[in-house]
Amino acid sequence: MNKNILLGVTGGVAIYKVVDVVSRLKKLGYNIKIIMTDSACEFVSPMTFETIGKCDVKTKMFHEGSHKIVEHIDLASWADLFLIAPASANTMAKINHGIADNLLTSCALAYDKKIMFCVSMNTNMLNNPATQKNIRELEEKGHIMVSSNSGLLACNVVGDGRLKEPWEIVEEVEKYFCKKDLTGKKILVTAGGTVERIDPVRYIGNDSSGKMGYSIAKKAYMRGAEVTVISAKTSVECPDGVENIKVESADEMQKEISNRIEKFDYLIMAAAVSDFKVANKRDKKIKKSDNFNTLELKENPDILKSLHKNENQIFIGFAAETNNLIENAKKKLSEKNLDYIVLNDVSKSDIGFNSDYNKVTIIGKEDIFEIEKESKLNIADKILDLIK
Ligand code: PMT
Repeated sequence: MNKNILLGVTGGVAIYKVVDVVSRLKKLGYNIKIIMTDSACEFVSPMTFETIGKCDVKTKMFHEGSHKIVEHIDLASWADLFLIAPASANTMAKINHGIADNLLTSCALAYDKKIMFCVSMNTNMLNNPATQKNIRELEEKGHIMVSSNSGLLACNVVGDGRLKEPWEIVEEVEKYFCKKDLTGKKILVTAGGTVERIDPVRYIGNDSSGKMGYSIAKKAYMRGAEVTVISAKTSVECPDGVENIKVESADEMQKEISNRIEKFDYLIMAAAVSDFKVANKRDKKIKKSDNFNTLELKENPDILKSLHKNENQIFIGFAAETNNLIENAKKKLSEKNLDYIVLNDVSKSDIGFNSDYNKVTIIGKEDIFEIEKESKLNIADKILDLIK
């Protein structure tokens, strides 16, 4: 069943971002009802939210017809999440002190679950001891603070207080609703493509972006796991909330994994690891005049094969294949002593390397599961569903 979000909008110039939040939440299938304070209506008309959210926008505590239901109680009990964005210093202060002088704050008083506050205000207002005390006390009461970002504010000050970006707010909402079935589990994920140096400015690499590994890390974190990612070269940012260890080569990746693998329940090797490194690597940039004509290669360690797996651990590898897909993947499953191998066809440009999508076959010792083309985030969820 789709979840119900009651969105409280308070007065602040960052409201324009919240219109985008509504649009994104709507696309994800959430049911939305919106309350705007009088100050919020000074910045954006309720009609903007009504149109984007295709939903009710309430602005007044008392209006014609409001006697038919006790509206603030009804809205509070309808909501699975009460999200306040932007959350002004004034509204947070009122809610912390139980003041209920408008529809939004009355709903907050009647709401018996955690409220999610997306903080947004001028830096000095945020740093004011009164605001800091309210934030602290609201957190102590169990509410969720989505802290602000740092940057240029509307008042031309550079500092804390910028409302988080719409995608970040939506991610917080998704995290809130996400099942927490991996709580207590420790998961080590690898991501990206290893880099094997030829000289200080040149290397052998591959097209891995890190998207597959980071999607697994992000979903595992959202589902409650403690996640560490060892990442080689990536073209996307590591998700928030996970420990990130940066490496360059296969040797470095092997060292970082073997140093800590003992304490993890799962290892998920989504990184594209080079099978070879350069034997005649140079310390200085190679010049044309150096007559460097031959690149000599030597084999890298096979990281998965080199690890000792204890009986409670689950190791999952990925197989990047272009031909004889199932046969090659099954060979890797047994040779690398894996519990599962996730096979992807890397000869296709719309999945696999660098795409936001993938299409995989998960092969276990006895089972085999086909997952049709989906976003890497959804694929990540399905891999985690299987192994948890
Ligand atoms: O990062 P993206 O752009 O999102 O792309 C994702 C991906 C295509 C890189 C990913 O889905 C993937 O397939 N990763 C595995 C790439 C790879 O190295 O595949 P392989 O078939 O060569 O290796 C099999 C397994 O052994 C892998 O888990 C690999 O990490 C591991 N390996 C490989 C070589 C080596 N020396 N040591 C290893 O442990």
